[in-house]
Amino acid sequence: MNDNREYPKHFARFYDSIYIGMRDPADKEYYLQQIRHANGKVLEAGVGTGRLFKTALIEGADIYGVDTSSSMLAELYDKIEPDEHYRISRQSIVDFHLDVNFDLVIAPFRVISHIIRKEDQLKTLNNVYHHLTPGGTFIFDAFVPDLKYIIKGFENFVDFEDEDEFGHKVTRTVTTRPNLMEQIIETDFELQWIDKGKTKKEHWTFPLRFFFRYELEHLVERSLFESHRIFGDFHDGPLTRGSKEFVVVCRKNKA
Ligand SMILES: C[S@@+](CC[C@H](N)C(=O)[O-])C[C@H]1O[C@@H](n2cnc3c(N)ncnc32)[C@H](O)[C@@H]1O
Repeated sequence: MNDNREYPKHFARFYDSIYIGMRDPADKEYYLQQIRHANGKVLEAGVGTGRLFKTALIEGADIYGVDTSSSMLAELYDKIEPDEHYRISRQSIVDFHLDVNFDLVIAPFRVISHIIRKEDQLKTLNNVYHHLTPGGTFIFDAFVPDLKYIIKGFENFVDFEDEDEFGHKVTRTVTTRPNLMEQIIETDFELQWIDKGKTKKEHWTFPLRFFFRYELEHLVERSLFESHRIFGDFHDGPLTRGSKEFVVVCRKNKA
């Protein structure tokens, strides 16, 4: 069993509106650079709506994608030509199977935080390892837990407010219930938007797993990967007291 939970349709619909502004400045150029430097095929695991994938494909990357959410993938299918759809499949990073090997596998923007159980996290790493060519690289990121919010959580915090394509207001409100012992943040997103003149409101509640630095080190060391480094930002900077991201780069040996 693994811990997949579907991103619901309304969340997938507004995903790009929310995260292109919120996330692109942090990680997009970093992942695109890694893709440009890859010597062969690339896989984005947890490809979502194709926030990164679509640009990589336009730039000529031989890139593939897997994701467990049919709603997120529906958004991606709409953005790319039908003759490129073969690149995408609905599978989990934990146990996907593809008949090709990749020079680079990436799992950008907290895909690993959706894998709740440590057995599945280890399976994920080993499954990715088996899909890499010798000398291949796996890069994933996770957020550095902010202890202030792990203790307090958020209560009805509006983290996004903008207009949709019709000029109607869209609002996202976040409430979190952290569970330190399970290393889980139960997250509730409330989306409010206007549809055919009526106000719509939907909630989506899901767990996000958070990681500490040495747990990540132990996890990668238990896996088949022969070497790894953990950076503290998307500029290859070291981990420091102020780091907000864990950027984990795992390498498979050449021979
Ligand atoms: C925050 S989104 C990131 C999407 C994309 N990588 C990006 O950077 O915009 C996380 C994605 O991981 C997917 N996901 C969650 N659990 C997964 C799993 N077990 N295997 C593959 N994808 C998964 C979700 O459906 C979602 O599309």
